[in-house]
Amino acid sequence: MRAFDIPHNSILAGCPVFGGKYILALERKIRELYRGNGIRRFIIFLNEGTTLTGALDDTSAVGEVIRQLRTEFMGSAEFYLHVDAAYGGMVYPFTEPDRVRPFNVPEVDSVTVDPYKMGQCPMAEGVFLCRLKHQEYIQRPTGYVQDEQDDTLIGSRSGAYAAACWAVFRAEGADGFRAMHEQSIEHARYLHELLSQNGRITMLPQLLNMVSFQLPPDLTARELKRFLDKVVDKYLVMWSWFSVDPEDPSVHPIRLVKCNITRDVKRSWLERFARAVTQYTRGGTKK
Ligand SMILES: Cc1ncc(COP(=O)(O)O)c(C=O)c1O
Repeated sequence: MRAFDIPHNSILAGCPVFGGKYILALERKIRELYRGNGIRRFIIFLNEGTTLTGALDDTSAVGEVIRQLRTEFMGSAEFYLHVDAAYGGMVYPFTEPDRVRPFNVPEVDSVTVDPYKMGQCPMAEGVFLCRLKHQEYIQRPTGYVQDEQDDTLIGSRSGAYAAACWAVFRAEGADGFRAMHEQSIEHARYLHELLSQNGRITMLPQLLNMVSFQLPPDLTARELKRFLDKVVDKYLVMWSWFSVDPEDPSVHPIRLVKCNITRDVKRSWLERFARAVTQYTRGGTKK
């Protein structure tokens, strides 16, 4: 499922991605590029937990599309499938253990997971995992490291980040992460329920530990500024706007607010926040 959503900017900068209900569109686009433009190499990015809404692409379905197209194109096209699980990769394996993991889909080439996001690790730990066969593209002989091949991207570096991750993983364990995220998700559901009573905003589905909503499209610039001052800045939530169709500039951009809920929030804070949202999304003030 994909509610109007975008991948993280780092990926949007490259090209649009499709997921969920857009699987058919993805298939159509690849055929069009293959037949009409002679394109023979395709790099596809999926998100398992988008930055603004926590939406998860259907990685298995995209794997299936690639399998079919490989057969249809009789090996004349190459595909690379990357899954950005920077956000969701530290959440859903604990809360949705039956969900298919990216590497269980044979077409997936690489996956990123950021332990510093939802994994309680200190800032900057990022994990990039790829199939062994891809390692040869980055490995080079050095003559001074064990096995004489440096098969890492950044060469010599501190092991402190890896040690920090190891310590956190060991301290929390799978049960610790599960309990932590389940608690956050429970708070997120409560906030979603509270905000759903506000008739002016449009709620997005509640996913992972996130609650996202669309601001009323008729808020004036002044009202939006007040909302940003009194709600976004005060409660440290994230605000962004984007076009639902980056290829169509005539479509009005959507203003989206995202709340990333942690286990330590109190219900009374969520109630206060929901009241503030109601107060500052009312609209109708003089221009
Ligand atoms: C889904 C997703 N992918 C990638 C990134 C980029 O992570 P980093 O800033 O660690 O490179 C983010 C950061 O917010 C993210 O939410």
